[in-house]
Amino acid sequence: MTQQTAGCAVGGFTAHNVVLPDGSQTNPQLPVLADGQHAQAALRMALAVCPPVGGRRRPRVVDLGCLEGGFAVEFARAGYDVLGIEARADNYGRCEYVRRQLQLDNLAFVQDDVRNLADYGHFDIAFCSGLLYHLDEPAAFLNLLGKTTTSLLLLHTHYAEIEPNPNYGLSDLTRHEGLEGRWFQEAPTGEWHSREEMEALPWASWCNSASFWPLKRHLLMAVQRAGFPIVCEQFDALEDIAEDPYTEYHSRSMFAAVKIGR
Ligand SMILES: C[S@@+](CC[C@H](N)C(=O)[O-])C[C@H]1O[C@@H](n2cnc3c(N)ncnc32)[C@H](O)[C@@H]1O
Repeated sequence: MTQQTAGCAVGGFTAHNVVLPDGSQTNPQLPVLADGQHAQAALRMALAVCPPVGGRRRPRVVDLGCLEGGFAVEFARAGYDVLGIEARADNYGRCEYVRRQLQLDNLAFVQDDVRNLADYGHFDIAFCSGLLYHLDEPAAFLNLLGKTTTSLLLLHTHYAEIEPNPNYGLSDLTRHEGLEGRWFQEAPTGEWHSREEMEALPWASWCNSASFWPLKRHLLMAVQRAGFPIVCEQFDALEDIAEDPYTEYHSRSMFAAVKIGR
């Protein structure tokens, strides 16, 4: 039987079920994050492109908008030197709880806005999952990733479609940052009014009240222009490549972008 984080002062894990060293799980109602294809595909690509090699410094990974730290943990367990960046205090508190339980010296978290990424130096790998579609200037952020990432960008994100996806209430097609796409309203009343209001929605944007979702081809062009000449879609992030309707239903996929001549 799985134990929940017994005696844990930090409950309320919303999405990341991490198995802790004592065998307890941060949210046993969810599948174990490490067992899912999302985490496994990310690690598969990271290990293929930029593996930790004995004797050399550990490759650095940044987990952007890391929520409860689950993916950061799995990169650290695989031997990377990992920094998770998370804006929300409650989410960050859960990351820190997990870190204390694991006691890995290659796992760290900071509470900050990902737009301050340049303050933390360069990273071999940027893991950008569930974050880009919460930004109002995705192309500017991709350019920042192009400057701070030396090897691999792993991008798991929604994008806009020419035919609107009925599952998401987006704006009409428009142009922003030179890209075609649609706006997604984040703040329930149109604007964020306080930190407390933003904290109450643990998965939402931070400070920007709307986010811009480029069309897929425009998104991938922006990735390439940011300095990643190789841009691929990573289908093994699906649980079942032939049958899983995830990509079509959510207008969302995983992409791997690689720099040449590291
Ligand atoms: C949809 S969740 C995705 C979480 C996680 N990366 C994953 O794939 O499961 C978005 C996360 O990004 C965080 N976030 C959103 N905007 C941010 C920003 N500008 N800076 C830092 N974190 C941000 C949110 O607080 C939330 O934890």
